[in-house]
Amino acid sequence: MQPTLIDITLSAVAPGAASSPLLVVALPAQPAVGGPLSELDATLGGALQRSLARSDFRGSRDETLHLGGVADGGPQRVLLVGMGKITDRRASIRRAAAIAARHAVKYGTGTVDFWAGALVDVEVEAAVVGLAAGAWEYKEQKSLPPEDERRTPLSRAAVLVDDIEAAQPGLASGNAIAAGHALARRLAMMPGNLCTPDYLAATAEDIGARHGLRITVLGREEMTREKMGSFLCVAQGTPQDPKLVVLEYRGGAEGAQPVALVGKGLCFDSGGISIKPAQGMELMKFDMCGAAGVLGAMEAIARLELPVNVVGLIGATTNMPSGTAVNPGDVVQASNGKYIEIINTDAEGRLVLADVLAYTKRFDPVAVIDAATLTGACVVALGHTATGVMGNDDALVNEVIAAGARAGEPGWALPLWDDYKELIRSDVADVKNSGGRAAGTITAALFLQEFVDGFPWVHLDIAGTAYTESDLVTLPRGPTGTPVGTFVEFVRARAV
Ligand code: BES
Ligand code: MN
Ligand code: ZN
Repeated sequence: MQPTLIDITLSAVAPGAASSPLLVVALPAQPAVGGPLSELDATLGGALQRSLARSDFRGSRDETLHLGGVADGGPQRVLLVGMGKITDRRASIRRAAAIAARHAVKYGTGTVDFWAGALVDVEVEAAVVGLAAGAWEYKEQKSLPPEDERRTPLSRAAVLVDDIEAAQPGLASGNAIAAGHALARRLAMMPGNLCTPDYLAATAEDIGARHGLRITVLGREEMTREKMGSFLCVAQGTPQDPKLVVLEYRGGAEGAQPVALVGKGLCFDSGGISIKPAQGMELMKFDMCGAAGVLGAMEAIARLELPVNVVGLIGATTNMPSGTAVNPGDVVQASNGKYIEIINTDAEGRLVLADVLAYTKRFDPVAVIDAATLTGACVVALGHTATGVMGNDDALVNEVIAAGARAGEPGWALPLWDDYKELIRSDVADVKNSGGRAAGTITAALFLQEFVDGFPWVHLDIAGTAYTESDLVTLPRGPTGTPVGTFVEFVRARAV
C-alpha cells in the first residue's frame, strides 16, 4: 500500500571522481568552470570547458546538454542541467533534480549522482525531494515489456555534498517529504475502481498503524447518526460506503489545539444526475487529490515527527447518477442545521466538505486548511500554475501562500467578499450549492464558509494544480503531489 521509493543517499565524492553511470551537474545561467568543476573538466578531457566556450550550453532554465563520460575512474555519462537566473535557489535545485531523475529514468541508468555546488540544509532537502519527484512512476497496471526491451528502473540516487554529516538532516527531511508526495501521487494515479473510499480509509489505517496515529472511520450509518445530510446526499447514488476518515497525529503538547487538514476525496466524480460530458470524464478519478494530499501530508508529518498536533480529515465517496441519486431541486440539511438547495449535483465537493468542515469543529482547531479539486472555474482563472487560495483570515491566507511558495506550490489569493454571496442565495433554502459560472471558485469557497464555525480557515482550490494533463520537464502527465508540500511547510513552520 506504500509506493516503492528510490533509495536516496548522500555522497562526499567530488563530481569529477564520481564513477557513476550518470552524473548530473546543475548549473546557473552563464556558468563558468571553476572549483570542483575544473576537476570534472579534467576528467572529461576538457569537454566541459569546450562546450561552454562554444555556448552549446548556456545554463538557461531546464536546458540540458548530454556530454560523454569516461570509461572508468569517473562518470560514465554527464548531463548538464540549467537552472537559469537564480532567484530562489531552493526552487531551482528542486527543479533541476527532478529533471535529472527524469533523464535517468529515460536513459535506464539505474542510478544517478546529482551535483549542484555547495548546498545548505533546505537545498539538500530540495535536491532529495526533486530527485524523488522526477523518479516517480506508476506502473502497477502495466505488464512488463519483453526482457530485451526493459530499461533498468531508477532505484538509487545520490546527492553529492561536501560534508555528509552536515547534510544528514536535509536528507532525512527530504526523504520524509518525498514519501508523502509519492503516497499522494500513487493514490491520485490509481484508477477509481481500485482507489475507492474503502481503499482511502484502509490507507489511513495503514499510516496510522505505522506511525501510531488514532484513526476514526465513519461510514454511511455513522454519518446518518451525525445528521450529515449534505455529505450523504452525494453518496446516495452509489452502493459504495462513503467514508469520513479522521487521522489524529499528536506530536505537540498535550492539550495544544491542533491544525486540521481537510481533503475532498471524490474517488470518481461523474457529476451525478447533472452528468458530465463523456469527453475527459476519466480524469475525474483525480477528484480525490485533496484527500490524497492530506494522507501524504500526514505520512510526511509523522515521519518528520513534527512537534505539532495535526488532525487530518477526508471525505471520501463517489458521485454517481442512479435512481436513488440526489436530484437538482432537492433540499438537504447539513449537520450544522443549514438547509441546502441542490442546483447542480456536479457541485458535490462542497456538499461533502460542508459536513467534514462542520465536523472539524469538535477538534477545536487552531487553524483549518482544506484542499479540494473543487471548481473548473479555478482552472480557467489560474490555469495549472497557481492554486486558488481563499479564507476567513488574511494572516492565515498569507501564511498558507508563503508555505506553498517555499514548497514550490504557488498559490494566489482570490477575494471572499460578501458581495458575492448574493450568487448562492436560494429561494427555498439557506444557501444553494451552485452560483453558476460567474466567480465559480469564489462562490464555491463562500459556500464552504457557511460550514466554518469560529475557526481560522483557508481553502485551497487545487483543481488546476493537483494534476498535469501534459508531460512536464519535471513530471510525467499525472498527479503533481500538490498540496502535500504546502501542508507540510505550513505545519513545519508552526512547529518552531
Ligand atoms: N471536480 C469538479 C471540479 C473540476 C472540474 C476539477 C474540472 C478539475 C477539472 C467539481 O466537482 C465540479 O464538477 N465542479 C463544477 C461546479 C459547478 C457545477 C458549479 C464545475 O466546476 O463545473
Ligand atoms: Mn463535480
Ligand atoms: Zn468533483
